[in-house]
Parts: sequence; C-alpha cells; structure tokens
Amino acid sequence: MEITLESPLDMHLHLRDGDMLKLVAPLSADFAGAVIMPNLVPPVTDPGAMVAYGERIATAMGDSPFTRYMTLFFTKQSEQQLTLAKETPGFFGYKLYPAGITTNSEGGVANLAEAESTLKMMEEMGIPLLIHGESHGFVMDREAEFLGVYKHLAQQFPKLKICMEHITTAAALDLMEEFENLCATVTLQHLIITLDDVAGGALQPHLFCKPIAKRPHDRDALLQAAVSGHPRLMFGSDSAPHPRCKKEACGCAAGVFTAPLALPKLAEIFARHHALDNLQGFVSGNACRIHGLTPAAKHVTLHDTPMNVPTSYRSYGQQVVPMYAGEQISWSIKH
Ligand code: DOR
Ligand code: ZN
Repeated sequence: MEITLESPLDMHLHLRDGDMLKLVAPLSADFAGAVIMPNLVPPVTDPGAMVAYGERIATAMGDSPFTRYMTLFFTKQSEQQLTLAKETPGFFGYKLYPAGITTNSEGGVANLAEAESTLKMMEEMGIPLLIHGESHGFVMDREAEFLGVYKHLAQQFPKLKICMEHITTAAALDLMEEFENLCATVTLQHLIITLDDVAGGALQPHLFCKPIAKRPHDRDALLQAAVSGHPRLMFGSDSAPHPRCKKEACGCAAGVFTAPLALPKLAEIFARHHALDNLQGFVSGNACRIHGLTPAAKHVTLHDTPMNVPTSYRSYGQQVVPMYAGEQISWSIKH
C-alpha cells in the first residue's frame, strides 16, 4: 500500500535556533512548509527579528523547497505594528501564550482584557491568532478551563480567525463545532497516547509535553475527528526538540520530538483506520483552505514498509531523542 501526499504542512513546529536549528530543520524537510513557533529566547516579537530568523531557517533547511509561515510572539500591538507585521513577507499570524504557561512563554499575556484592542484590529486586518489554550489550574484541567476564554474570544471577535493550538480534549472539539471562526491543530502524540503512557508506568520523559496527554476518551475523540476528515482540524506536530540532557533530567523540559517520523506514523494510523483518503486534508488541504495557503509544491510518497526510528539524532554537538526512539513503525517515506 502507498499514498502520495501533495505539499504536506506542519501547522505548528518548533525549530529553535543555532546548532539545534541546524540539527532539526532538515528533519522536517519532507514537509512542504510549516508554521514556525516564535518562543525563542528572547521571543520573536518584531518583524525584523522574524525575517532574520526565517533566513536562518532557510539556510538550515538546505535545498529542499520549504515554505515558512512565520509567527510573532503576541503582545499588545499598535495598529502601526500590526500593519508592519502584515506587510512583512513570510508573516502568518500571532501566537498568544498565557504568561509562563510553557517553554519560554514568560513574556506572554498576563491579562487578556488588555489585549482586546489588539485583537479587534487583528480581526479587522484579517490576521490569524494562534493560541496556546491552557489556564494555570490543575494540569489535567488546564485546557478545559481555558475553553471559556476561547468561547469569549470567538463570540467577541466573530471574524477573527482563532486557531486552538494542539488541542487534547473531546471538549475542545465540541467547542470548535460551535463557532465557525475556530479551527484547531492536533499533534501526533495526542492522537496516540494518554497520560498513562507518560506516567502510568516508569516515567517517560520523551512523551512529556504541554498540554499533557489526557484520558483515553479524549485521545479517542481526537483520533476519530482526524481520521474522519474533520474539515477544521489540521495537523500541527508541535514537534519540540530539547537536548537529551534537558529531557532525561530532574525538571524535564516539556516537548515531544516527532518531526522525522510524523508523516509515516500518520500514514500508519490513517491506514489502520481505513482512512488514507482523509490524510491529504488533515496534513494540507484543510490548512490551505482555511488560511488560503499555497505552499511549495512537493510530493511525498509513503508506503507500508517499516521505518526503524533512530535512538537519537545527533550533530552540531546536539542530541535529541525522537518519539518511538529505537522502535520500528510500520510505514516509511519512499525516497
Ligand atoms: O511541550 C511543549 N513544548 N509545549 C509547548 O507549548 C512548548 C513546547 C516547547 O517549546 O518546548
Ligand atoms: Zn508548541
């Protein structure tokens, strides 16, 4: 069995910077493009820094055509700042992090009410808003507690395109159904694992991410929505590399590194659910339609020939451990 995907997109990707960028960028090169997260240190807050970062990504990617959809780290903006961002080539949207909610998000939004004038202008200017939707509550309830914020924003700004990033719950899917201006990304790991896989036995640091994996019922609802071709659900890996020493450590950093195996594993999952016909929409079609994207032309053929996932990827003095390290998955990319 095989399937050829046209211009697959990763709608939520962390590429980092420096030596880590050099190591991980080529591992996303089977995608035609990606939405690039801005949570560097310091975060990418101005268009000049964004363009420079985009150029470093292009260099690290090598020759493969790859469309960079760059995001800026959301803070309160003036109309002039929004206009400048919108006119900057490669700009895709703003990523809003509640302050301190995850890796390098300390400069995020502490008081959403103060940001509403910016959101109003973004709505008028047609600039998408991507949100890391978690409260500061009990870790398993953080996404559920944030749903009220999504609802408020969806009602308050009915023309603002709001992307609920990396949703992990059935309740988030239900909310998306209610409002046409909501769409969502979902990661590979949240289609597969639950909290049991992270912490039910020996602790698995390489499966620890924010938002944390939830209950079987949530995982099953996300999987069902993805394989059944939900038109507003898009693949966003949230592939988030951290050096091995930061993962296998006290104070383990949050993030699952999935970029190199995401497409084969998605094909495996969709094939298992007799839903390969819906994979194109999930990894590209929905995003292109929702956001009006025309990514680099790229064809990727996947086939049901096993892939041995490396125990780690290392170069430039960096080492990262992927999901399924040292294991075999049953689909691979046909080169
Ligand atoms: O697990 C995560 N890692 N969640 C995020 O929201 C950020 C990401 C990172 O940058 O490492
Ligand atoms: Zn992320």
